Amino acid sequence: MKKVQAVAPGKIILFGEHAVVYRRPAIAIPVNDVFAQATLETTEGERGLRIMAPDLDQDYLLAEAPLDDPLATVVRLTLAHLGRSEPVSATLSLKSTIPLGRGLGSGAAISTVIVRVLGDFFGQVLASAQVSTLVYEVEKLYHGTPSGIDNTVIAFNQPVYFIKEHPIERLQVTQPLTLVIGDTGIISPTHKVVGDLRRRWQTDPSRYESYFDEIREIVRQARHIIEHGPDVMGTLGKLMNNNQEILAALGVSSPELELLIEVARHAGALGAKLSGAGWGGNMIALTRPEQAPLVAQALQAAEAVKVIITELPASPVGEKRD
Ligand code: PMV
Repeated sequence: MKKVQAVAPGKIILFGEHAVVYRRPAIAIPVNDVFAQATLETTEGERGLRIMAPDLDQDYLLAEAPLDDPLATVVRLTLAHLGRSEPVSATLSLKSTIPLGRGLGSGAAISTVIVRVLGDFFGQVLASAQVSTLVYEVEKLYHGTPSGIDNTVIAFNQPVYFIKEHPIERLQVTQPLTLVIGDTGIISPTHKVVGDLRRRWQTDPSRYESYFDEIREIVRQARHIIEHGPDVMGTLGKLMNNNQEILAALGVSSPELELLIEVARHAGALGAKLSGAGWGGNMIALTRPEQAPLVAQALQAAEAVKVIITELPASPVGEKRD
């Protein structure tokens, strides 16, 4: 009998969503308060691999899954990468506390745990970079033109300064950051928002390119402040507000997001913005630690469906970088 498990965090984008698709940098951090988990264990009988995801109301055999089934696709890609056929008799159980389609990386996190658990099962422990690459293949199938930021931040479980198709750059965090995440409850498929923006970009490229350049400047400044200080909180908050203004001009915000963002600022947040694709999903607010419960309460009162207070810890001194 064999049993292996893997866990992967959710994520938020602190700065630079959308522009990152157009090769500008972005900053993302893992959120370990929500997570996906996979368990793979051998079972009796010889029915191949059974995939069980009760949260998604799914329970089926890999051999019977349609070719375009998302979970089976991750399994098949990973088995091909490992050079293995499916286990003779095993169950893959999946669960996740990451809300679906709300910009917290639920899809990339589920893919990550599937890849990891299959690697472990066959005694081939995959490096984070390999996991990230495989998950990116899956992201491309479902999101069209993903930047690769979700798979990177989630597979590495590290704050990242990310540029599409560049090697990963880990972010050195000098001071812990307290963030409040508020969920509008609106499911917003990333490929729709990204596709809509692409159509607008095609009709007026120079206008959108200059927005993306502005976002690049914000992201660069934010990186410098996160890594070197000194006024980390105040300046970062302003940069978040500036980033939000451009996201609204890009047409990816929504009245529900704007409401929660306004409520958070009013309750004392230093800055707030949408996080992820937009049109729905989650917003984030940067707060001083003592202010976080007040901001969270205000968001709840404004009918955010879920509110998470999370802390990005300072990076350990002398941490190894690759
Ligand atoms: O998957 P989401 O909702 O976090 O969106 C990812 C961020 C985008 O920049 C909008 C898309 C991408 O591929 O980077």
